[in-house]
Amino acid sequence: MSQSITFQVQPGGSLRGEIRVPGDKSMSHRSIMLGSIAEGVTHVRGFLNAEDAMSTLEAFRAMGVEIEGPVNGEVTIHGVGKHGLKAPTKPLYLGNSGTSMRLLSGLLAGQPFDCTLTGDKSLESRPMKRVTAPLAQMGAVIEAQANGTAPLHIKGQAGKLQGMHYDMPIASAQVKSCLLLAGMYAEGETSVTEPAPTRDHTERMLNGFGYPVQREGSTAKINNQGKLTATEIDVPSDISSAAFFLVGASIAPDSDVTLKHVGINPTRTGIIDILRLMGANIEVLNQREVGGEPVADLRVRSAALKGIDIPEHLVPLAIDEFPVLFVAAACAEGQTVLTGAEELRVKESDRIQVMADGLQILGVDAQPTKDGMVVRGGGNIGGGEVDSHGDHRIAMSFSIAGLRASAPITIKDCANVNTSFPEFRQLATQLGLNLSTL
Ligand code: S3P
Repeated sequence: MSQSITFQVQPGGSLRGEIRVPGDKSMSHRSIMLGSIAEGVTHVRGFLNAEDAMSTLEAFRAMGVEIEGPVNGEVTIHGVGKHGLKAPTKPLYLGNSGTSMRLLSGLLAGQPFDCTLTGDKSLESRPMKRVTAPLAQMGAVIEAQANGTAPLHIKGQAGKLQGMHYDMPIASAQVKSCLLLAGMYAEGETSVTEPAPTRDHTERMLNGFGYPVQREGSTAKINNQGKLTATEIDVPSDISSAAFFLVGASIAPDSDVTLKHVGINPTRTGIIDILRLMGANIEVLNQREVGGEPVADLRVRSAALKGIDIPEHLVPLAIDEFPVLFVAAACAEGQTVLTGAEELRVKESDRIQVMADGLQILGVDAQPTKDGMVVRGGGNIGGGEVDSHGDHRIAMSFSIAGLRASAPITIKDCANVNTSFPEFRQLATQLGLNLSTL
């Protein structure tokens, strides 16, 4: 268990400079999963050396995959092939990582061995029925706790899974990816239709490994006939980590920040679209394609933000960025309204309630609603003590709020920043945020 860490941010300042934030978390997870079941040796560059991605890496080591690194973001995976994973000798502990648990439950449902997936308190309270229910329809045998949460006991059903069509009731890349991974081990075709576009890194990376995934409109299709051939993967910087500085440099006067080599996959760029609608000054420079994913440098300068009604179609495309977008809203002139985002209530914390509580402590008029929030911005952000509830993105968002606060902000329970962005404090300080740990 990580020890308790408290952040303290001194008010004011500007952000200036050029940085590269760490590798994309979603792609880092997938590089380990697919590299492990590929044939041959996969090299990954830009891998995110943070607790969540390491949970996935350690899980595959525990299933007999030889993995070297990470050293300076480089990982070498000696793939064992689609049918080469071995039974782990103990439960796979996945820490705080929802992506590890939901994707692994699909990948492991059709293996010739049983295994158990566990996690920390937050992960073991998150909903898992969204994956175990459709997997059961495919013939998976997974025993969860009475309320559908982890630990998950997966009884290997090698050769017994049946492909199916699934209409996802919620827009979730984790559910989609889980079912596509299970579909690699199922008889016949597995197809998944999403109610709104969600991140498509699984589909892109499978294709990069030479495994066919068909896309027809909002449906992705896969079958068990393909194989994965080892490849080179270059993981771009995580736009969800860049987001803290996109907002920070927008709200802090006299700021000018360039974020290098950021992944700008169109299923992830809702943060740029929403901030631009609010009046942000963000330039997308040097657009290029790296290993099947679009990448760019993002230059962001201070701007006077205005409140908006956030278009609902952008919600899944910015799903991890709302904690920091609420901070942007607090600094914007007028009212910002978020709707259609009830999923935020089942992330690493209840991000609607936890952000509203913290913003209110800081004197911001933030009213939680069932599926979003109403923030009346433009007033003063005060100081005070807020609680991140062990949620990495909440901890970093309140750190950014310090740029426009009138007094110090103390943020409790910040150790989990290490799950996605261990370098946050160092990079934020380098750009000009006055952040220390207590
Ligand atoms: C992720 C999908 C999203 C996101 C999470 C990472 C992924 O979750 O919030 O941080 O890598 O597939 P949902 O699928 O629950 O929306």
